[in-house]
Amino acid sequence: MTRQAGNPRRIGTYKVYPDPLERIELPPPEQEGGRPLWKVLTERRSIREYDQESLSLGQVSQLLWASQGITRERGEWQFRTAPSAGALYPIETYLAVNRVGDLEGGLYHYEVRYHRLAFVREDPLIGTAMARAALGQNMCQRAALLFIWTAVVSRSARKYGERAFRYIYMDAGHIGQNLYLAATSLDLACCAIGAFFDDEVNQLLEIDGREETTVYMASVGPKAL
Ligand SMILES: Cc1cc2nc3c(=O)[nH]c(=O)nc-3n(C[C@H](O)[C@H](O)[C@H](O)COP(=O)(O)O)c2cc1C
Repeated sequence: MTRQAGNPRRIGTYKVYPDPLERIELPPPEQEGGRPLWKVLTERRSIREYDQESLSLGQVSQLLWASQGITRERGEWQFRTAPSAGALYPIETYLAVNRVGDLEGGLYHYEVRYHRLAFVREDPLIGTAMARAALGQNMCQRAALLFIWTAVVSRSARKYGERAFRYIYMDAGHIGQNLYLAATSLDLACCAIGAFFDDEVNQLLEIDGREETTVYMASVGPKAL
């Protein structure tokens, strides 16, 4: 656990893997244009049928930025696309990659501060394992990509105590909706996934389920025609 310099009440808002297999720089995201918001809101749906095409790294960059990217810096604070109770940002983003550009299949972690990925573990069958952990929902293996959101509980609990659990889930909901809207804007399929065995997903992520625990997931990828 790291403390944020200058603010003793704040615990570091960024998890960093010190020694990942590789770090992958993401292309800069588009911050202008796109399809009109009202149209995107009208069209957003949970879509569970996926094509076997890959996503490009550019699309993944856009989805990550839309869900958790930094949009404003003020002193020691960085604010993101999605709101967060107390600007404590307890949610971490992992990707289970089935098919994305040249990336190896496996587990990746989003390094928000630098808009890049850390390659945590190679595992070409990660989608199958995730589907098993998600009560057999086979979109986990059919979609090009799975987002998995965890909470580092102490970041929020240190300030809010028990109430942190309420705020963590609210934060995750905002992030999930941002992902849905970005996916819709890119004409991709997306589906929230709340039905999964926490312990199984936590094991796949190699997190302890107490200090850091999985709270929400979503599948994304090109739609089946
Ligand atoms: C918290 C949450 C958990 C969900 N979990 C799942 C899930 O595990 N599997 C699934 O197929 N859809 C899941 N969904 C998607 C809902 O079924 C979907 O949002 C709902 O049927 C309304 O359809 P729409 O999103 O197309 O408007 C979840 C949605 C939310 C908000």
